[in-house]
Amino acid sequence: MMGELAYKVRRFSEADLESVIKINRTCLPENYSSNFFIDIYRSYPEGFLVAEYNGEVVGYIMCRVEFGFSEFGRFRLTKKIHVVSIAVMVQHRRKGLAKTLLTEAIKALDRKYGCSEVFLEVRVSNQPAINLYRKLGFRDIRVIHHYYIDSEDALVMARKLPLEEDLESEAG
Ligand code: ACO
Ligand code: ZN
Repeated sequence: MMGELAYKVRRFSEADLESVIKINRTCLPENYSSNFFIDIYRSYPEGFLVAEYNGEVVGYIMCRVEFGFSEFGRFRLTKKIHVVSIAVMVQHRRKGLAKTLLTEAIKALDRKYGCSEVFLEVRVSNQPAINLYRKLGFRDIRVIHHYYIDSEDALVMARKLPLEEDLESEAG
């Protein structure tokens, strides 16, 4: 899937900001200020990656680490990776880029912070993304009513860490 040398996944750098903002605005209705991207990058650089095609940025993932209640119940406090935003330009989809971005970012943050789970919110209508997360072992946790600005519901999905070896090696 990632056999084509033209594709490469690497750490975000501040020189990529404009490209990432453009991809975010093209692919998603949830858009953020430059400061929001930069603040997350400076706090959690291991969790902010980009995918390149022939040197052009065509996808990104942005994550942070949060301390709060486990998504798996029992009011247990835990360190969780939050996948804040991920997108791949439409011409470069179904090549495994999102899967690689997710596995690489999760592994890097888990290595540094020792997290016990990873979670995210996704629009209940976003079947491609939900399929991707299920394939990576995420489970449906709960629905947040009217989460998005247009009042669509969010599905919270989560999985326990670490990622299994099969996912880690397949992503390389
Ligand atoms: N239909 C069905 N299954 C899909 C689809 C789809 N359109 N896209 C991905 N999948 C599943 C498949 O199982 C796929 O494996 P396969 O191609 O071998 O069948 C698997 O996910 C891996 O797909 P990737 O190629 O890694 O995913 P891609 O690089 O195409 O990116 C993404 C997926 C990020 C959801 C892309 O479609 C996109 O950018 N969408 C618009 C932005 C978006 O919705 N982002 C997620 C919002 S939620 C959040 O950010 C936390
Ligand atoms: Zn979120």
